[in-house]
Amino acid sequence: MSEQKIRWGILACGRIARKFAADLQLVEGAELVAVASRSIERAREFAADFPAEHVLGSYEALVALEDIDIIYVASPHSHHYEHTLLCLNNGKAVFCEKAFAITSQQAIEMVNLARRKKLFLMEALWTRFLPHYTKVREMIDAGMIGDLKGVVANFGFLSAQGPDQRHFNPALGGGSLFDIGIYNVFLAQSIFGKPDEVIASMTPASTGVDEQCAIIFKYRNGRMASLFSSFASNLETDADIFGTQGRIRLTNRFYEPTATIQYYPDQVDSRTLVPVEKEPGWGYQHEIRHVVDCLNKGLKESPVWGLDETLALMETLDSVRESMQFFYKIP
Ligand SMILES: NC(=O)c1ccc[n+]([C@@H]2O[C@H](COP(=O)([O-])OP(=O)(O)OC[C@H]3O[C@@H](n4cnc5c(N)ncnc54)[C@H](OP(=O)(O)O)[C@@H]3O)[C@@H](O)[C@H]2O)c1
Repeated sequence: MSEQKIRWGILACGRIARKFAADLQLVEGAELVAVASRSIERAREFAADFPAEHVLGSYEALVALEDIDIIYVASPHSHHYEHTLLCLNNGKAVFCEKAFAITSQQAIEMVNLARRKKLFLMEALWTRFLPHYTKVREMIDAGMIGDLKGVVANFGFLSAQGPDQRHFNPALGGGSLFDIGIYNVFLAQSIFGKPDEVIASMTPASTGVDEQCAIIFKYRNGRMASLFSSFASNLETDADIFGTQGRIRLTNRFYEPTATIQYYPDQVDSRTLVPVEKEPGWGYQHEIRHVVDCLNKGLKESPVWGLDETLALMETLDSVRESMQFFYKIP
């Protein structure tokens, strides 16, 4: 087991990279050593808030560094394929933001390359590592809601972004499904497994990407999920997971560490608020600790959110887009 800190580089200095860098400071076994932007000015601005030994004006300069252990890819999902391959081809381990890619074909190539080169690769699906999500899994495994029947989840906010920005720009992988609907899909799939049937429909924004997206999952064992995402309205962004003996309700944004767990056992009038330990930070420190642990153990894949799970999620996202007849143009 290494005593040294895991040395991180950040590729792309956008919004999520800032939150990630802030939480990196909360993880004892991690340190930020390099930040890279397409523009040196942006990299310097970023490093003013999150100091790093190397402040770089290109991604190529980042992947050429000798003294980093892993690169966090925080570009738009349209570019995860290109940037992950750039890192892997230069011998660097990668922790790549969600959505991992924009097609499962891209994801397969990313995974195959990492496995061939024996480099660590993982999708940054932070919700999988949040304490409340772990608690929900424990409650389900303990039989607290009986045999599983369904998941109903919604995630929506009114996006103020313009047509050229990430939310709506098809060239940047725009659309509610990949940005926020992915959390609904993750919730249902991580509990029920891959659906046997996917039915989806969408309403397009002026740019053609899905402004709103409605999905139904059907399972041969009778389970169902109903999932809705929207850039057009502020929704509760809550979720219900239910079975033959009760229901778990996640409120106050089901995918975030702010979420609260309400437990409604059947045949009982009152609900119980299930306590979950909160700690300071945005919540990304949990996934970062896991990656640090994996690297210290010499693992090439996460035993918790592994590449096969990422590929299964990407395949379902393909099925959703197939059903709603929405396809990105891949150059
Ligand atoms: N886990 C989470 O909670 C969470 C939350 C938000 C977003 N995300 C994910 O993180 C990724 C980035 O989201 P974000 O909100 O941080 O986006 P953002 O603010 O737009 O930042 C993306 C950054 O990517 C870089 N980039 C590289 N090529 C680009 C291109 N052709 N056009 C625009 N930017 C380009 C830019 O950095 P430089 O100019 O510095 O090179 C840009 O600042 C997305 O995949 C998103 O789904 C995850």
